[in-house]
Amino acid sequence: MAADIEIRIGERRFMLDSAKADEAIHGKAVINGRQTPHFNILPLKYPWAYELYRNMKANHWEPEDIPMGRDIEQWRSADGSITDIDRWIIRMGVGYFSAAEGIVGDNILHVIREKVTASELKLVLGRHAHEENIHADSLLYMVSSLGLNPHECEAMFEDIATIRRKNEFVESVTQGMRRDIDLSETPSKQKFAKNMFVFGQCMEGTQFYGLFGMVLSLYRQNKFPGIGQMFRYTLRDESNHIELLRQLFNTLVQENPDVWTEQFREECRQLMATAVELEKEFISDCLPVSALGLSKEDFHLYIEYIANRRLEGVNLAPLSVDAPNPFPWLAEMMDIKKEQNFFEGRVTEYQKASSLRSVEDDEL
Ligand SMILES: [Fe+2]
Ligand SMILES: [Fe+2]
Repeated sequence: MAADIEIRIGERRFMLDSAKADEAIHGKAVINGRQTPHFNILPLKYPWAYELYRNMKANHWEPEDIPMGRDIEQWRSADGSITDIDRWIIRMGVGYFSAAEGIVGDNILHVIREKVTASELKLVLGRHAHEENIHADSLLYMVSSLGLNPHECEAMFEDIATIRRKNEFVESVTQGMRRDIDLSETPSKQKFAKNMFVFGQCMEGTQFYGLFGMVLSLYRQNKFPGIGQMFRYTLRDESNHIELLRQLFNTLVQENPDVWTEQFREECRQLMATAVELEKEFISDCLPVSALGLSKEDFHLYIEYIANRRLEGVNLAPLSVDAPNPFPWLAEMMDIKKEQNFFEGRVTEYQKASSLRSVEDDEL
């Protein structure tokens, strides 16, 4: 008779049949693992994935938790305290992210989650997709609170050339990925790994940061506190998404060393270089940084700084000589745990008092 083994996850204990547990662990893989009809999480082969899932769950929030009264007042004010540029930045943020959140969520569900085989990975990817829903819903909440025209926001995504180019860039790694592809061959594994890399490290990890920086600069000037708060919650979630796709990419490479050729590594670096160029173009064309007291050069450096961090996270060489983060205040603004009262109000209802997790990524 097989001996039972005890597995502990945090404070929970499970008794498993050791032979079956062994078989299950050996059958698990990021791709091409054993497919089972049941959603068996145990035993965990990827404890980081479950840990991340719990972390994400502990940070749950809903848009309605955030009061918008002050934002509405400021949006309507005519006393000059809020400029047309400030309003433009908010419109741009709502417009860009309304579409971008949907594009990411869709790719997570229909490309990445569809192809990974281990249950704990599917679990955390499901949570990721749901968080994109929450972000999309928070933008709708902003649209309704401020009385914005959603079609105008949509049009931004189609009419602004630099946004269109950012979109075409991410679309280039999704083509053909929705079909059943044979992931036993190296080129298709590399294609899948690139999809993960572009979505996690280039798009969510780098290209989101131009607008994040702009909206948070407004927040820093006490403009649109509700929107700023929602963007901070969103950013904390994004840090987890970047981490999830980073770990997934690294584990895929570890399990499939044939992916990691010199050519593949260089192609990934070039994809990041393109992402950085597109983001710099977007900042130059669309973001009136000087109106907020920031310099375009610093903003460009900031994007480079972040891109280098993302590359290092997946063991790729940085694109440029490292310079210090030109916006340390932005990192501070994202470090939510420093604020004692931040979670007062309804948000705390989702939390078990001790389970509140904070962003570990101090490199933003
Ligand atoms: Fe998001
Ligand atoms: Fe995300």
